[in-house]
Parts: sequence; C-alpha cells; structure tokens
Amino acid sequence: MNSPVLVAVAWPYANGPRHIGHVAGFGVPSDVFARFQRMRGADVLMISGTDEHGTPLLVQADKEGVSVRELADRYNRQIVQDLAGLGLSYDLFTRTTTRNHYAVVQELFRGLYENGYMLKETTKGAISPSTGRTLPDRYIEGTCPICGADDARGDQCDTCGNQLDPADLINPVSKINGETPEFVETEHFLLDLPALAQALGQWLQGRENWRPNVLKFSLNLLEDLRPRAMTRDIDWGVPIPIEGWQDNNAKKLYVWFDAVVGYLSASIEWAYRAGRPEAWREWWTNPEAVSYYFMGKDNITFHSQIWPAELLGYQGEGAHGGSEHELGALQLPTEVVSSEYLTMSGSKFSSSKGVVIYVKDFLAEYGPDPLRYFIAVAGPENNDTDFTWDEFVRRNNNELANGWGNLVNRTVSMAFKNFGEVPEPGELFDADRAILDLGAKAFDVVGDALAHNRFKVGITHAMHVVGETNAYIADQEPWKLAKDPEQRERLATVLWTALQMVSDCNTLLTPYLPHTAQKVHEALGREGVWSGMPEIREVADDMDVHPVGVGVPEQDTTYLTISGDYEAAQAQWCRVEVEPGTPLAKPKPLIAKLDPELGETGPEWAPVNNG
Ligand code: MF3
Ligand code: ZN
Repeated sequence: MNSPVLVAVAWPYANGPRHIGHVAGFGVPSDVFARFQRMRGADVLMISGTDEHGTPLLVQADKEGVSVRELADRYNRQIVQDLAGLGLSYDLFTRTTTRNHYAVVQELFRGLYENGYMLKETTKGAISPSTGRTLPDRYIEGTCPICGADDARGDQCDTCGNQLDPADLINPVSKINGETPEFVETEHFLLDLPALAQALGQWLQGRENWRPNVLKFSLNLLEDLRPRAMTRDIDWGVPIPIEGWQDNNAKKLYVWFDAVVGYLSASIEWAYRAGRPEAWREWWTNPEAVSYYFMGKDNITFHSQIWPAELLGYQGEGAHGGSEHELGALQLPTEVVSSEYLTMSGSKFSSSKGVVIYVKDFLAEYGPDPLRYFIAVAGPENNDTDFTWDEFVRRNNNELANGWGNLVNRTVSMAFKNFGEVPEPGELFDADRAILDLGAKAFDVVGDALAHNRFKVGITHAMHVVGETNAYIADQEPWKLAKDPEQRERLATVLWTALQMVSDCNTLLTPYLPHTAQKVHEALGREGVWSGMPEIREVADDMDVHPVGVGVPEQDTTYLTISGDYEAAQAQWCRVEVEPGTPLAKPKPLIAKLDPELGETGPEWAPVNNG
C-alpha cells in the first residue's frame, strides 16, 4: 500500500481576498509538497477551507456594513477562486460554516470535557466601555508583561512568542478605537494545558526533522503552560455543546478551537463526498500515516500546541486520563512546516494601508506559474523575504523565460524543423552521457529536498539542470550540425539528448510549475493530463450530521469547494523516456517576457512607491 500523506493547509480567514503574502506562507509550499508526494506515489489527502468565525470576520463585516454570514459567503467564494486560480491541488477546500464542521468540533469538545480537560472558570473578560461589547483578545494591544515589547496583543506577544491573556497586558488599549478596556467577570471553559504538558513534551521531543526555529519556538511554549480559554463572549461561532450553554447565543467556542479541527472535519467531508465515508481514517487513525501542516509563523502555537493538546485530551492521553471517543485515536502532526513573512518593497502587507498585491489581480495579468516560481525561489522559506516588482520581472525574464522557456522552445523547434518528430539517436558521446546522468541523478537530489520541505534547494537544483542543459546545447551547436548533411546522425543524437533533458527538467519542475508542465508535456508530443488541476465545484450542505445549539448552519445551503481528480494525472517522479518517432509540432511560446519597465513602475493596480 502507498503511504498515506495528509497535507494540512492553514485555513485563510474569509475576511478579504488573499494577497500574495498569504499564499507565500501556506499556499505554494503546501501545493509543491502535495504534488511531489502524489508523483512519488503517495496517497495524498490535501485539505483546507475558509476560516469563517472569530473577530477578524466581525470587524470586517462592520466595516463593509454587511452581516457576518454575508461576508463569509462573499469571501469564501473569492478565496476559492484565488486558490484554484493558483493551481493549488486541494482534495477538498471547504469552509468552517458547514454543519459537518460544527458537529465534528462539538464531538471534540465533548470528548475533552468528558475526559476532564475542560475546566470551567470565572475569568476576566475585556469589554469596550463605550459600546458594552466584548473586546476580542486580538484587538487589544499593550506592553508585554514578559519581554516588555510595546506591541503585544491580548492573545500573544509576537516578539517573545508567549501566549497572553488580555488582562496581563500593561497599559491595554483597544485597537478598534483606542479606549482602555474594562475587565468584567465572565465564565469560560479553559483547555487544561498543564495536564497535557507532559504528553505534549514527549511528542515534541520526538520531532527531529522540523525546521529548527519552529521546533525551538514550540519547545519554548511548553515552559509556561497555563490553562487557556476555549470559549468566548461572542455571538458568532460554534455553540458550546453542553446543557445550559448551547442555547446561549452570547457564548461560543473560540475560533482557534474550531479552526484547527477543520483538518479533521474536512477529511471526513472529503470521504463522504468521495462515496467512502470511512476513508478519512486511513490518514487519521492509521499509525503508518504521516501529516504535514503548512502555515505562516504566526500560526505555530495553534498547530504545535493547541491542536495536539486537543487531540491528546480527546483520546485521554493527559494527566487526567480518560477514554477514547467515537472518532478513535487520532494521529498528531508529523511536522509543522512554517514559513516566515513575505513583505512588499520592505513593508508588511496591509490591505488597509494599501500595501497589497491581491492574488486575483496578479493572476489576471501574469498567470499562476510566474508567481509560484517567485515564491518558490525567493519566498520566505527560512527568513522574511521581500517582493519587489524589479526582482519579479528579473527572475521571470532571466530565469523562467530565458532559462527554461528558451530551452524548451529551441530544443523542440530544432527537432521539429529538422526531423518533424523525436529523432532516433546514434552513438552517445561523453558529453551526452554526462548531461543525461545529471538529469537522472537530479530526481534524487530534488526529490530529497522536496521530501524535507526544502523547496528552495529543490528548485535551485532543477534550474541548475536547466542551465547545464542550455550550456550543453551551446557547446554542441546543433544549428551548425544542421547545416552539414554528414552530421545528420550527430544532430539527431544531440537533439534527442536535449529532448530527454527537457522531459526530465519538466518532471523536476512539475510540482512548482504545473501549468507550464502541462504545456511542455504537449510540446513533447505527448497526450492526456500530465499534472492535475483543481476544479471549483458547488456542493450542498447535506451530510447526515447533528450539530447542537443556537445558530448552527441551515441544512442544504450550497457553497463552493475546490477538489480534483488528481489520480488521473500521469506525472510520476522518474524519467520518462522520450520515444523516437513521436510527432512534434512547432512549439508555442511558454513563458511571456515582461516589459522591464514594469520592474521600475509596478502595474497600475500596485504601483511602486518611490516616495
Ligand atoms: N485563519 C487563520 C489565519 O489566517 C489560520 C487558521 S489555520 C487553522 O491566521 F488551521 F486553524 F484553521
Ligand atoms: Zn513578549
């Protein structure tokens, strides 16, 4: 059996269209990984959806003057288009406002509660004195009591990474209107993290392959574990599934409690839609399965602490013991793969400040692969990196168009012009063998990098092979051979070799550039689907599930999902021999060159600010 690989991708908030900073963090890396794993024969399940609860949505709905449900619907649709347009190959991209999601979240909560990991406590909650409304943690800022940073948020300090309570902040102020919040008593359920600390520590100690900064950050979190509230005074979210609480519309589960459960609920929904309702277990209750979680660095805490703690408590593996529940013993993450931030010309992306490049605008103008390429080669894999139009144009023109596009174009053109088909090679010379050897070995080099989420190393080596192949052609000068009828066999050998290298490079680049890869596949005279593409499908909320409480989503509403039939694609992680006699056609240009002026000015919709 093929190894089951869960590719769990962070759920974007449905509070606006996605910008390129978002997709640099969770989007492109997860898709490169998933496509590679499918090519090497793994059973991949790649899931995500829009995160539609929490204050980020409430705040935006206020701003746009619409109901929060309307806002969630609007941006669920927009984000589905953004991500499908980029070619992200989700098996299911759904949303958190489905009845199934509510039911699975409530099952997790109940298991944790029955096992004793949910503590009921009276805590201090912040309210806005002017409106009387609760002030969410994320919208309170102040000085960190631990490291003294002056921009800590009520939920967390990004400078030292510690989780905070709003009441801990020194000089707290509301980010919404600058007033000083008032703290009032309120009852909540807290996740008993100290009771799960030992189990969490044991699990984390065994994680050797993580990026060092992610592991260090996660281990640090263990040092000061306190119970953490998993309910909020808010009227938008999943009802707390406990008698006396579920019908109170003023309290809901914390958005982060529910969002991380999405990985599980989306897997269950996928299995239902695939007509094999139990199939999700292959990735969740099978000890052979591995799971990789992709996100930006501000999400690490929730994936290396809160989510594993929910899973451990649900199956009774903490200090209070407890029993397994309906969904069984669920696997903890194999790896939390987190990237750093992408900035734009030196500034943090900010929709409100107009420092933003939306995915939809980018795709409409340049298509998906140039962006995927930039993110893979220059994105924030291990440190913060900067997007500039100048560098984008340079890399697109010099590397993608002049390097890769030109190699494909001239190789196929010469073979077509001289033979009309893939020629039959004669005897191989040392130079031919050397380049073919480089191509054959690259599958291990790039494959090893991809298996370890080292995407830059992978694409850098693939592009090195492209460069060496261009150098091989320059050395062999097939255009000179073509003029000499005596050299016809040598010409055939050189072009056959070059075509084999184009085929190899295309395979190596497929996880990164799947749209281009399909075109190269066709340029080589091959047929059918090489790399599968996601499809947008409308589905009905029609699972037979029973979420409880006030405000659960209605049955049978319809929504957009991303899914796809990736199994049908041919791409495999190995050399495909080019077959002499395969008819060729004159190739179409592969990658459009951009006007160098764009590098200086930027497009009208995201101009370079030289001020
Ligand atoms: N919506 C969150 C954000 O954009 C990410 C949620 S990831 C999840 O930061 F797994 F928890 F859903
Ligand atoms: Zn701090």
